[in-house]
Amino acid sequence: MSDSHKAGPLKIAVAGLGTVGAGVLKLLERQADLIEQRCGRRIEVVAVSARSRGKDRGVDLSKAEWYDDPVALAAHPGVDVVVELIGGSEGPAKETVELALERGRHVVTANKALLAHHGTALAAKAEAQGLAIGFEAAVAGGIPIIKGLREGLAGNRVSEVHGILNGTCNYILTEMRTTGRDFADVLADAQRLGYAEADPSFDIDGVDAAHKLAILTSVAFGTPVDFKSVHVEGIRHVSAVDFDYADALGYRIKLLGIARRTDRGVEQRVHPCMVPKAAPIAAVDGVFNAVVAQGDFVDRVLFVGRGAGEGPTASAVVADLIDIARGRSTPTFGVPAAQLSEAQPSPMEARRGSYYVRLMVLDRPGVIADVAAAMRDQNVSMEQFLQRGRAPGEAVPVVLTTHDTDEAAMQRALATIAAKESVVEPPRMIRIEQF
Ligand SMILES: NC(=O)c1ccc[n+]([C@@H]2O[C@H](COP(=O)([O-])OP(=O)(O)OC[C@H]3O[C@@H](n4cnc5c(N)ncnc54)[C@H](OP(=O)(O)O)[C@@H]3O)[C@@H](O)[C@H]2O)c1
Repeated sequence: MSDSHKAGPLKIAVAGLGTVGAGVLKLLERQADLIEQRCGRRIEVVAVSARSRGKDRGVDLSKAEWYDDPVALAAHPGVDVVVELIGGSEGPAKETVELALERGRHVVTANKALLAHHGTALAAKAEAQGLAIGFEAAVAGGIPIIKGLREGLAGNRVSEVHGILNGTCNYILTEMRTTGRDFADVLADAQRLGYAEADPSFDIDGVDAAHKLAILTSVAFGTPVDFKSVHVEGIRHVSAVDFDYADALGYRIKLLGIARRTDRGVEQRVHPCMVPKAAPIAAVDGVFNAVVAQGDFVDRVLFVGRGAGEGPTASAVVADLIDIARGRSTPTFGVPAAQLSEAQPSPMEARRGSYYVRLMVLDRPGVIADVAAAMRDQNVSMEQFLQRGRAPGEAVPVVLTTHDTDEAAMQRALATIAAKESVVEPPRMIRIEQF
């Protein structure tokens, strides 16, 4: 039932006025008339909160009441929606959202860390009171993937979702491939350009993508958010030479989040992947994100767009506000929180697929035979083998790919290979995904 007939404006309080918060206020101001048409009412910002009151944020805050404390803002009288744009899974962001729900306010948030850790509990709390939690902005920024999956594909059983969920990593990997520069160099550049944080570890170690994947998994499969079951590897060990080999083998390297229903349970993993150059996701470069969903009736759907930044993220936050203003609501993760059904997590060791392995080995007789024997002993069958150049007695890179095999067998083979005296660096492995 729509409550758009309500005469009054939708009153919102915004906690956090950084990149996203200021972007939301700018969008609401600039598109006020359009939004009023789409909502049937105005959206009015009645209160705001951030740490430093004096900071110029490029927006007019004169009509909103200021709060130093975002938790106090959540209790501001007469507010319909609290918009949490502070960030972090604990602390003021969590307290603000919890108090907002306790006080009967809808919540809109861009905070993937909060939802990855507490999403199921917060959804239960909201739904018990008929409140909405909008979180479109939390996954893949401007791409309407939550709505796309939860509402657009609601008639399907989804068997797989995978995607490029972190624009910083995709930018770094794209630059490494196109310029031949190494990881540290490109990361430093990304920090200068504002594409990477001063502390980039959440991005480059895959944690940010894992937060988003855990949320997507829940929406796609109707399971409780299970962040702790996500296998997470970042991009620190991808080297400039891997891009040359990937190219020669017909692949691109992407950091992907993959959620898949298998006979063994639900796989959730984030790690660098080699994907065939012809796969649509292989062409998604730079700061762009992409998500692919596989539904039983719709088949394969690809969403592409900007995964972060002031404008795209504000676009997603405001879409959630318009839904609330119109009275459109759906259970947070597609089915009511109480009906989310636990799924057995499938461990990483159970993955089945092919592998790319790069070794630095001493160029001397018998070394390659040792590598081949370690693979054979674990029933790992090699598909291709590349050695470029010779340097007798010195370390040279050797690359191989495998046929489909079990991750556990692959790991055992790599452990044996790593222990050989002629293998001078830890073996580097990248999983190959044949989408
Ligand atoms: N940036 C993006 O492109 C993007 C994309 C998708 C999702 N998100 C998510 O959106 C959220 C906000 O990100 P952002 O990039 O906008 O962050 P940000 O630029 O760092 O802004 C954070 C805001 O929160 C305020 N804040 C921090 N701690 C506070 C506290 N203890 N009490 C009151 N206010 C506090 C800050 O105040 P001051 O301004 O006074 O320091 C600032 O206004 C995060 O959950 C993030 O993961 C961001």
